[in-house]
Amino acid sequence: MTSNLKHIIYASTPFGFSRSDLDHILIKSRYNNDKNDITGALFCRDDLYLQYLEGPEKEIELTFSKITEDDRHTEIYLLKSGMSTRRLFANWAMKDDPVQSWMWTREEIDSGILEKVTETEAMDIFIKHSRETDQFL
Ligand SMILES: Cc1cc2nc3c(=O)[nH]c(=O)nc-3n(C[C@H](O)[C@H](O)[C@H](O)COP(=O)(O)O)c2cc1C
Repeated sequence: MTSNLKHIIYASTPFGFSRSDLDHILIKSRYNNDKNDITGALFCRDDLYLQYLEGPEKEIELTFSKITEDDRHTEIYLLKSGMSTRRLFANWAMKDDPVQSWMWTREEIDSGILEKVTETEAMDIFIKHSRETDQFL
């Protein structure tokens, strides 16, 4: 039983977003995360990235510091960070959201919803997303 899993949730604004940027990010993330024992999920739209990462503390911190230096996005807000005993996305080196099943409206984002989201609300988005995943396993 692993009890030293760290998880983080952050939101950011894509910089010059394109579908091919997203494809490159996903390919690289899955390759690296697999090696680093990291799993998680990434929601992506042209105006928002929202990512959940979980794994060994050291690897999460290292990966997040690389992500914060990436110039493909800006305005990175850490919405939650904490420890867990089990993974939400055990089978996903990085799950994406091709059908865009969840999203805030552009108006909500523009009016600053990200600054008001609580840790629990941020976590609930990913708990819900992980359950949707399970139905297809
Ligand atoms: C929105 C976003 C999400 C990312 N997610 C991950 C990730 O989960 N894992 C990862 O290794 N890199 C991720 N990256 C890429 C990193 O910023 C960085 O380019 C990469 O880790 C560098 O890998 P390297 O040191 O092997 O060259 C992400 C980048 C962006 C913009």
